[in-house]
Amino acid sequence: MTFVVTDNCIRCKYMDCVEVCPVDCFYEGGNMLVIHPDECIDCGVCVPECPAEAIFPDTDTAATSDWLLLNHKYAQIWPNITSKRTPPDDADAMNGVPDKLSMFDASPGEGD
Ligand code: SF4
Ligand code: F3S
Repeated sequence: MTFVVTDNCIRCKYMDCVEVCPVDCFYEGGNMLVIHPDECIDCGVCVPECPAEAIFPDTDTAATSDWLLLNHKYAQIWPNITSKRTPPDDADAMNGVPDKLSMFDASPGEGD
């Protein structure tokens, strides 16, 4: 099992999650983060920290579906991130906007 970052992280990217992960398994893309499924220890402490409520267990297949594959793919490409930076200016405005996959940015983020 692993936890998975999903749709609503895109363009919100609050980064509160990285501050609490005990195994530092978040990786940063241009406008969202992902969790490395092989590194996550399923503690669940990141879930309530996310203001966008974007993190779900992979057992919730309705919420995670294709996002698990996306997390697995980009966790191997993007840089690790363990410290929160300033979120995007319009993060709150983007929180809850549906179907953000079309806005997905595959480029790597800054990382730590
Ligand atoms: Fe990290 Fe735990 Fe969240 Fe997995 S569930 S990403 S180990 S904080
Ligand atoms: Fe994304 Fe939520 Fe973390 S918006 S960056 S999963 S705190």
